[in-house]
Amino acid sequence: MLLKKAKKITVAPYSALAEIYDFVMNHVDYQRWANYVALIAQKHSDHLRSIVDFSCGTGSLCLQLKQLGYEVSGCDSSVEMIRIARQKLDAPIWCADMRHVATQSSPDLVVSLYDSMNYLPDNFSWLQSLKNAYSVLKSKGLFIFDISTLHNSINVFKKYIEKEKSEKAAYLRKSHFDKNRQLQINYFEIRYKKSPEIIFCETHKQRIRKVQEILEMIRQTDFELVGCYSGFSLQPGSEESERVHFVLKK
Ligand SMILES: C[S@@+](CC[C@H](N)C(=O)[O-])C[C@H]1O[C@@H](n2cnc3c(N)ncnc32)[C@H](O)[C@@H]1O
Repeated sequence: MLLKKAKKITVAPYSALAEIYDFVMNHVDYQRWANYVALIAQKHSDHLRSIVDFSCGTGSLCLQLKQLGYEVSGCDSSVEMIRIARQKLDAPIWCADMRHVATQSSPDLVVSLYDSMNYLPDNFSWLQSLKNAYSVLKSKGLFIFDISTLHNSINVFKKYIEKEKSEKAAYLRKSHFDKNRQLQINYFEIRYKKSPEIIFCETHKQRIRKVQEILEMIRQTDFELVGCYSGFSLQPGSEESERVHFVLKK
């Protein structure tokens, strides 16, 4: 464990992590991700101007998409993540759950990336989110989302421990995959320099589904599946991919 003589407090996912999320994710190339999103979106749409990120987190992807010239806005269910996003981004950013978020106008593209859909606990929530994206989009608009796959959990994140320190905090991250419940569990202990007497503990549960299960859920909506890509490529996504990007058209 990280420290002795400090009190452990259990808090909601991302409530303590938010402040150091960008440090924890500094290995992620959001510019590359934004370029990839633009590439696969342009492949399937002639008109792409406005984008809403349904799980924008601290706004890193929104920032890159904005720099590519798109009109961007974002929401996220974590108020703490939104607080950071608002500091980074001059764009409409609000707190909302992707299962029933409303938008002021109908965007050309909705995105939900970096495992965010894996957080949806059950099929009902998945269908709610898919149908909600459909309802907010313009006619012929796209919904692009990704999933982290079973292959990724079984082979890459089966057991993983990380300890890091930033200027603000020290954290411990332990990951394991519960095969019976198909849950990827990421457990964090975070201790901020400003409150060394407390260790914040967060347990993140991601439901890991087969690509086939996702395809089955998409079939239950009015969306047309126009793309299913492996990782950051244009190769077809499969159960062997670590990450799959889906492109749905209204
Ligand atoms: C791994 S983070 C990814 C954040 C961001 N997309 C990025 O690339 O950095 C997952 C995000 O999904 C958000 N999230 C989880 N469930 C959500 C829901 N039902 N509605 C909206 N956001 C949700 C979390 O609050 C968190 O910010």
